Amino acid sequence: MPANLTTTKHNSHFPHILQFTRMAEIPSEPPSRGLKGKVAIVTGAGCAGDGIGNGRAISIMLADEGCNVLCLDLNLEWAQKTAELTSSKSGRARALPLKADVTKAVDCEAAVQAALKEFGRLDILVNNVGIGGAPGTAVEVDMEAWAKGLEINVSSMVQMAKYAIPAMQKNEGETKGSIINMGSVAGLKGGTPHLLYPTSKGAVVNMTRAMSAHHAADGIRVNCVCPGVCVIFSYTLPY
Ligand SMILES: NC(=O)c1ccc[n+]([C@@H]2O[C@H](COP(=O)([O-])OP(=O)(O)OC[C@H]3O[C@@H](n4cnc5c(N)ncnc54)[C@H](O)[C@@H]3O)[C@@H](O)[C@H]2O)c1
Repeated sequence: MPANLTTTKHNSHFPHILQFTRMAEIPSEPPSRGLKGKVAIVTGAGCAGDGIGNGRAISIMLADEGCNVLCLDLNLEWAQKTAELTSSKSGRARALPLKADVTKAVDCEAAVQAALKEFGRLDILVNNVGIGGAPGTAVEVDMEAWAKGLEINVSSMVQMAKYAIPAMQKNEGETKGSIINMGSVAGLKGGTPHLLYPTSKGAVVNMTRAMSAHHAADGIRVNCVCPGVCVIFSYTLPY
C-alpha cells in the first residue's frame, strides 16, 4: 500500500471493500472555480427595487468568487443597487454600475471599453438581458413588437459578443474567455401562451451552439443556461 494511503472504514454498501483515503490530499476548502482576478460584464444586472433577478444574483456570485464585475443595465439606479449589494460584503471583488442599452452598438462597444479601462481585461460576458416581449400567438402578435423582442432577446447577445470577443482574444493562456447566454426552459420546450419568448429563447440555444463552434479555436467557450421559472421578488414580466 502506498505510504500516503490509509484504510479508514468499511464501505457500508460493499463491506468487503475497504475505503482508502489519501490522507495528505483531503482539501478543507471546496475547489476554486478559478474566477479570482477575472473580469466579467453582466448585462441586465439590475432588478426592479429590492428584487434579486438573475443578473443581480449572477453579479453577486461572481464577485463573491473574486471576479470583478461591470454591472450593465438600461436602468442606472438598478445597476447601482446591484453594485452596492455586491460590494456590501468585505473580501469580494469590485463591482461597478454602467448604464447601457444592449440593443445599441455604441453602448455595447463602450461597455467593453469600460471593462478594459476599469479592470484591465475582459474574461467573461454574461448575456443575461431578456424580456417577455410581444404577447400573443402568430395571429395576434404585433410585428413591430415582435422585431423589437428579437432584437432585445437575441441580436443584443450577438452585438455584445462582437465587441467582447476581440477583447478576450488578448488574454494569455489556452482559455481566453467565456460567454454565457441566458436561455430558458421555454427555449427548449415552448410552453408559454406567447410566441415571441419561446421563439427567441430557442434561437439563443442554437445561436450558442453555432457560436461555440465558431470561437472554440480562439479559446473562447460559449454556453447557454436554460433556467425554469425563478422566484423573483419584484417579478413583473409575463414569462
Ligand atoms: N425570471 C425567470 O423566471 C426566468 C426564467 C428563465 C429565464 N430567465 C431569463 O433570465 C434573464 C433575466 O431575467 P430576470 O427575470 O432575472 O430579469 P429582470 O427583469 O429581473 O431583469 C432584467 C434586467 O434587464 C434590463 N434590461 C432590459 N432591457 C435592456 C437593454 N436593452 N439593455 C440593458 N439592460 C436591459 C432591465 O432593466 C432589468 O434590470 C432573461 O434573459 C430571462 O429571459 C428568467
